[in-house]
Amino acid sequence: MGFELRELSAADGCNALSLGDPVFSPLKSFLRKEAKKLHQEHLARTYVLVRQGETKVLAYITTLCTHMAVEQFDKHDVVLDGFRYKDYPAIKLARLAVDSSLKRQGIGSQLVDFIIGLITEHVMPHTGCRFLVVDSKPESVNFYSAKGFLPIGISNEGDSATTTMFIDLKRVLAAVN
Ligand SMILES: CC(C)(COP(=O)(O)OP(=O)(O)OC[C@H]1O[C@@H](n2cnc3c(N)ncnc32)[C@H](O)[C@@H]1OP(=O)(O)O)[C@@H](O)C(=O)NCCC(=O)NCCS
Repeated sequence: MGFELRELSAADGCNALSLGDPVFSPLKSFLRKEAKKLHQEHLARTYVLVRQGETKVLAYITTLCTHMAVEQFDKHDVVLDGFRYKDYPAIKLARLAVDSSLKRQGIGSQLVDFIIGLITEHVMPHTGCRFLVVDSKPESVNFYSAKGFLPIGISNEGDSATTTMFIDLKRVLAAVN
């Protein structure tokens, strides 16, 4: 039986995602308690992977609009001289999770590619949007590096450290055109 990648819908089963390590509990509770409401309100849009004809969510990815402060990019040489703004428009990859039973099969990678495709085809032609950014948990930094994300810096919120990472979408577009 095949898989289907589509928008989160009100009838989807969001309670059975298994992520193993308790450090990922916030990703489970986001899907269970917040994803549908935020999706309906256009505050964060979520796409889900389900088996064809089924509704149990096996993986999901959530995005929203954001901006990146220019000083964060200085050392990466992505900001052109004479073209400096305080902030740059970006999409944030806010949540990403793949059920433990399906990890390391390329699904997380395909979800990120799906979002990059959505942005390059349906967002960038119509509005300013230069970067895809993510605040990565330490456990996921290697995954995002493998996808071409570059680290900017580490921030500490409460007792959890995250690494902010980005992809320059102009370079992605240049590579595919
Ligand atoms: C991170 C996560 C989304 C990756 O999804 P996945 O479907 O297992 O990843 P993929 O199979 O697409 O992996 C693509 C590449 O990323 C790298 N990668 C994936 N998981 C990795 C890990 N745990 N450690 C190191 N590298 C990893 C590998 O290079 C892999 O390439 P390979 O297939 O040649 O080995 C998934 O492991 C997950 O849900 N983790 C828990 C939640 C989480 O950390 N979410 C991100 C929040 S910031």
